[in-house]
Amino acid sequence: MRGPAKKVSAGAEGRRVPEPDEILALLRAEGTQAEAGRVPTREEIVALLTAGDADTDALYRAADAVRAGHVGDTVHLRAIIEFSNHCVQNCLYCGLRRNNRRLFRYRMSPDEIFAAAAVARDQGYRTVVLQSGEDPGYPTSELARLVHRLKDQLDVAVTLSVGELPRVVYRELRTAGADRYLLKHETADPALFARLRPGTTLAGRLEKLVWLRELGYQVGSGNMVGLPGQTVESLAADVILLRELEVEMAGIGPFIPHPDTPLAGAPPGPLELTLDVLAVTRLVLPRAHLPATTAMSVLHPEGRQRALACGANVVMPDLTPEPYRRHYEIYPGRTAAPVGAPRSFAAWRETLAGLGRPVDSGYGHGPGRN
Ligand code: 5AD
Ligand code: SF4
Repeated sequence: MRGPAKKVSAGAEGRRVPEPDEILALLRAEGTQAEAGRVPTREEIVALLTAGDADTDALYRAADAVRAGHVGDTVHLRAIIEFSNHCVQNCLYCGLRRNNRRLFRYRMSPDEIFAAAAVARDQGYRTVVLQSGEDPGYPTSELARLVHRLKDQLDVAVTLSVGELPRVVYRELRTAGADRYLLKHETADPALFARLRPGTTLAGRLEKLVWLRELGYQVGSGNMVGLPGQTVESLAADVILLRELEVEMAGIGPFIPHPDTPLAGAPPGPLELTLDVLAVTRLVLPRAHLPATTAMSVLHPEGRQRALACGANVVMPDLTPEPYRRHYEIYPGRTAAPVGAPRSFAAWRETLAGLGRPVDSGYGHGPGRN
């Protein structure tokens, strides 16, 4: 771990910004694909993110080749169970924000969550992701007992995604058996972060990512693309930050405006730019698990498939049972599976096989932990 929040340098003065194809050649030549590879500069990443169509094709091909070479063709399927949509935070972009009074709030009981996880396990999933808003109404001890029971009885990897919590709580959940933790940094721009997540700071979030690493979790982070006020330079900083954090997993998805939030009128993040950020992340983090996010498929019916072709190697289907599922509306369109999307593990296996991408049969731990 190289430490968090290192200020990303803007590169040497007067330095020429290389052409995208030069950067690709350079990345290949210097073996960024290997652990020892050099991190591209912010300017180099910006050049890749603003390249013309022909260079974008080259970028996607390079990302696909790096993915194939380092993590292979298999795709990891992870079942998400969204067990509570209560949240004390008030993020400007999110439908679960506490000021959204139009949302029906629910909290699944540990038995309901366990039953949903058992369904996932029976279908073939080897990882269960338990996700919620920041919900102090869910006692840590109860969550810890549930994690222990899942590990004990279902033989699954357990990922938690339950927000910013005190270090002792992370420790208790880790001791209970949680394998991984997902905490997206959302944006590497500290001012934008503070504006969009009132009362919280980027530095505070990065500190939690460090704790999670210290406690032995496999760590996932990630960011949104196309947030109002976000620049291409800050997207480059997102990628560099992911590399500095040495995350095992990075979720990159487009911002999608929710009508019951202060950002209702903002335009959605562009799919192309999101794919560009994903592809660059694959070049910079060759062995990471990178999901083809749900938000990509909400933006475009082929979003997920396109992501799988430019660096992604994970899909996280939603296994939250009804009647709860429809109420986990972080952004519109999320809770209804896109038309034609596979609805079961078996259907996913078939669809992915059709893309030449077999489903991985292991737990899908991070590099070196399988
Ligand atoms: N559009 C896209 N992604 C969003 N998230 C929250 N709100 C939105 C939105 N409007 C993502 C954030 C958060 C995760 C729970 O969902 O990245 O970490
Ligand atoms: Fe809560 Fe997370 Fe939504 Fe913020 S993004 S309001 S912390 S659920």
